[in-house]
Amino acid sequence: MWWENEFVTARKRRLYLGGRSAEEIAGRHGTPLLVYGRRQILANYETLVRTFSKTSRLPLRVCYAMKANPHREILRLLRRQGAWIDAVSPREVEEALRAGFSARRILFTGTSLGHADLRRAFRVDGLTVNIDALEQLELMQELKKKEFREKTIRVSVRWNPGIGRGFNPRAITAGARSTDGTPIKFGVEKSKVLAAFEKASSSGFLPVGLHQHLGSGWVDEDYEVVSTAVDRMIAMASRAEKEGFRLEFLDFGGGFGPRYEERQRVFPLRRYAAHITRRIAEAGLRVEAIAVEPGKYLVADAGVLLLGVQYLKESYGQLFACVNSGTYNSLPRPAIYPQARHHIVHCGRVYDGKMRPVTVAGNLCETGDVFGKEIPMPVPQSGDILAVLGAGAYGRSMASNFNLRDIPEEVFI
Ligand code: LLP
Repeated sequence: MWWENEFVTARKRRLYLGGRSAEEIAGRHGTPLLVYGRRQILANYETLVRTFSKTSRLPLRVCYAMKANPHREILRLLRRQGAWIDAVSPREVEEALRAGFSARRILFTGTSLGHADLRRAFRVDGLTVNIDALEQLELMQELKKKEFREKTIRVSVRWNPGIGRGFNPRAITAGARSTDGTPIKFGVEKSKVLAAFEKASSSGFLPVGLHQHLGSGWVDEDYEVVSTAVDRMIAMASRAEKEGFRLEFLDFGGGFGPRYEERQRVFPLRRYAAHITRRIAEAGLRVEAIAVEPGKYLVADAGVLLLGVQYLKESYGQLFACVNSGTYNSLPRPAIYPQARHHIVHCGRVYDGKMRPVTVAGNLCETGDVFGKEIPMPVPQSGDILAVLGAGAYGRSMASNFNLRDIPEEVFI
C-alpha cells in the first residue's frame, strides 16, 4: 500500500502498528486512541539528516517544531538524536527545557509577544529570541534596559521574503497577503531587516541568525516558489554580512510535508537541500550552520488515530461510519482545513473485494465533523476499529474538549 512505512503496515489484510495488531492495541487500551511509533520518528529524522549531509558539509540543525506534537517522549527521543527546538511560546520553551534540551538549542519564534512573554524568555540563559517585528524589538529594548541590562541575549531576525507557500491559505506564513486575501502578520519586511539587525546590536543584543518560514504542507508543485524564497534569503543574508553582521545560522523554517494522500507528489527534499547548499557556497556566506524546522515531516506519519465504530448509518444514499471521537477532540485538521486529507483504513479488513465509499463521522454537533469523506473501504460494522493515518502532527496539539468530549489517550509503540 502507498501508505505503508516502518510503523504502519498491512499483513494478511490486517493493520499492524509497529509490528502489533492495531485491533489488539485498541482492545488493550480502548478507543479513541492516539498511537505513535518511535522508530518511524527516528527514521524520518535520519532521512532528513542524510539528505542534507549528502549535499552539504555545513552542520544541519534540525529544530523540531514542537507545536506539531509536544509530547515529552517525542521531545526526549529527538533530543537524544541531536535535534534542536523551534518553540513558539514561553510554555513551549519551558517544556523543551524540561525534556532536557539546553537553552542554546532552542530558538524562540513568537509573535504578538509582550513584556510578560519576553521576560520569561530573557530569563532563560542562552536562548535565542527570534524577532518578528521592529515593534517587538522596541519592547525588547525597553525590557532589557529595565531588567536585563547586563545580560547578553542572542537574537535572530525572522524576515518575510515577500512570497510564501502552504497547503491552504491559513498555512501560508510569508508574503503580503495569503491566497484568500488575509494580510500576513509574520516577520520583518525586506526594507526593515537591516534596521532590525542594527537596532538589535546597538541596544546590546547579539544578532546570530536570519530566519524565514514560508508555510506548511509543501508538495512537489511548491518547489519553484520555495526555491525563489531561498534565493531571496541568501541575498538578504549577503547584505547583512556586508553590513558587518556575523550570522551564525540561516534558518529556512519548516514546511516540507509528508505524504498524506495517494495522489500527492511529495516535496523534493533532496533538490531543496542541494539548492540551499549551492546558493550559500555561491554567495560565499560565512554562516556556520543551516537550520530547518520540520514539524509534520518528523511526526505526522508516525501517528495513527484509532477510532471505534459505534454504528453504520445510511442516509440519503450516503454511508456513514459513526465513530467514538470528534475531530476537534483528537485530529481537528479535516474539520478546519478543507484541503486537509487523512487516509482511513479499516483495521480488520484493510481491503476486500467490496469497497464502498464511507464517510467517517465524529460525535460532535457540526456537519464539518468528519475525519474523511467517502473513503473507499470494506463496509465497517459496529465495534470495528478504523485507523486515521497521518495523525502524529497537529492532532493532539490542536485538540480541545469541544462539546465536553475527552481528548484521547496517547501510547507509544
Ligand atoms: N517553523 C515555524 C516558525 C512555524 O510556524 C511552523 C508551523 C513550523 C516551523 C513547522 O511547519 P511544518 O514543518 O509542520 O509544516 N496547523 C496546521 C499547520 C500550521 C503550521 C504553523 N507553523 C496543520 O495542521 O496543517
